[in-house]
Amino acid sequence: GATAPVAAVAPAPAVAEAAAVSRLTILFGSQTGNSKKAAGLVAEAARRRGLQPQVRDMNDYPTKDLKTEQLLLVVVSTQGEGDPPIAAEELHQFLLSSRAPKLPDLQYAVLALGDKSYLQFCQTGFEFDQRLAELGGRRLAERLDCDITFEDETRQWAEQVLSRIAELQPTPVAAGVAVAAPVVAVVGGSYAPEVAPLPAAVEYNARNPFGAELLEKIQLNGRGSTKETYHLEFSLADSGLTYEPGDALMVQPRNRPALVQEVLQAARLSEAAPVRLEAEELDLTTALTERLELSVITRDVLERYAAVAPQHPRLREILADTAGLGTYLYGRDVADLLTEFPVELSGQQLAAVLRPLPARAYSIASSLLAHPEEVHLTVGAVRYETHGRAKHGACSGYQADHLNLGDTARVWVDRNEYFKLPQDATTDIIMVGPGTGVAPFRAFVEERAETGATGRNWLLFGNPHFTTDFLYQTEWQQHLKRGTLNRLDVAFSRDQTQKLYVQHRLLEQSRRVYEQLENGAYFYVCGDKSRMAHDVQQALRQIIQQESGHDADYAAEYLRQLKKSRRFLEDVY
Ligand code: 2AM
Repeated sequence: GATAPVAAVAPAPAVAEAAAVSRLTILFGSQTGNSKKAAGLVAEAARRRGLQPQVRDMNDYPTKDLKTEQLLLVVVSTQGEGDPPIAAEELHQFLLSSRAPKLPDLQYAVLALGDKSYLQFCQTGFEFDQRLAELGGRRLAERLDCDITFEDETRQWAEQVLSRIAELQPTPVAAGVAVAAPVVAVVGGSYAPEVAPLPAAVEYNARNPFGAELLEKIQLNGRGSTKETYHLEFSLADSGLTYEPGDALMVQPRNRPALVQEVLQAARLSEAAPVRLEAEELDLTTALTERLELSVITRDVLERYAAVAPQHPRLREILADTAGLGTYLYGRDVADLLTEFPVELSGQQLAAVLRPLPARAYSIASSLLAHPEEVHLTVGAVRYETHGRAKHGACSGYQADHLNLGDTARVWVDRNEYFKLPQDATTDIIMVGPGTGVAPFRAFVEERAETGATGRNWLLFGNPHFTTDFLYQTEWQQHLKRGTLNRLDVAFSRDQTQKLYVQHRLLEQSRRVYEQLENGAYFYVCGDKSRMAHDVQQALRQIIQQESGHDADYAAEYLRQLKKSRRFLEDVY
């Protein structure tokens, strides 16, 4: 490695000069805690340089403070197709509105967290970045958009931004106090070698997953259902892995052999062709099975493909048509792309075009207290047909079709800092979890049963049909009998001519919902983001308005306060 230029640091300026140094604020907007963690990494780097950053949560940040900022580092994630995290909603809305102040004295940089499988990748970070510039702010560095993994990238970005800040003003650091920043290898992609030594306790993560044995797999839907949902139980024995209800389990899928074959054929490549991924040499089949995303195409994959396929100008047209791009990508996989736009590629070139195969997050469906050394998932198999070929969700298909009892899956825990049970065991909870959205609530109810929490537990569940789709029916009935579930409302959407959804049940129980909220209840929503979660919020506002006797603005403010106090919580996807 390079020698850190500690000796080259100029004599330390007097401590008194510290006053001349601008205040540094690191402002994060986090949904599950990742942006908070990234903000912590940036703060750590700043402190190593002798700075004293203020780390602030957008959730508790008065919008009027914005115009007092001088040096501002924004760390924010994007939820689904372009939405800010709940904790960032208010600041985001304010910033984009005409009420936002001019910020001529501001210097800033944005770190955006996201997931490239969404077209609106890092949209919220992009909007913060654009808008702060429009308001007169000057960028300290280009925005960094992180795709799923963020730790190494964040550390590198922090060094870049902090060096820029150091150039701009006198450093308050006394000689000798300055600790050289760790030399971070600049590597692209997700196959980067470890840059930091592992902590003493084994930590399982993307680079070091735990091999969890599958102990049980049960199809939860009855014959003839339109749904295909599995209950899976994995062993955590000897891992030391722990989790809390509300956390997610990351599952590293393998691509199905049939899809790997289709891709090899479409690319007219041999299975054994050697490819290098970062430092490793693999055969193409292994790379396509374990390392590279095949079942979806993202914008960046299409861009790289277009670059190696100059004979297909149509690819550039598709990319240029921002509005139509989503339609093109929807339902197409790598085999579709290779078939539609054939090119001669080596295995190495193909690997360079593709995206690393990311692990998928599943809301954990069990409590460790109820199932020591186990973790349970509720997995909905995604299957559909497009462009003349059967498609399967990469990770749900892997678990449904290729993972057998006794096999091990590569897993680790992704904490969700906010989607948690109330600290106070006497607090009531209302849980809205249609479909596989019920998963974390199985964990919640088990945990509260084990700990003897006395707050009331109310579950609202929905699915197409009572006879085939009542997930965990007998468990809920037992909990009801034992008093560990106090109320269960079900909405079987297709058992009558009119669609019946969980939000309709909420509206029927309007008075009860409002009374519990007034009594301090927590309100949880898990499941479909694009329609269900939106409709449930709408219903909740309607309930608040109706039951309080106030107007729509009052109801909106009431919900906003629930969100701010983290009593309205979402785990939606
Ligand atoms: P449907 O498929 O019959 O329309 C779990 O997927 C359940 O959520 C299903 O019963 C599904 O009903 C229902 N669902 C679909 N759209 C919804 C929405 N906007 N709000 C609430 N539930 C919805």
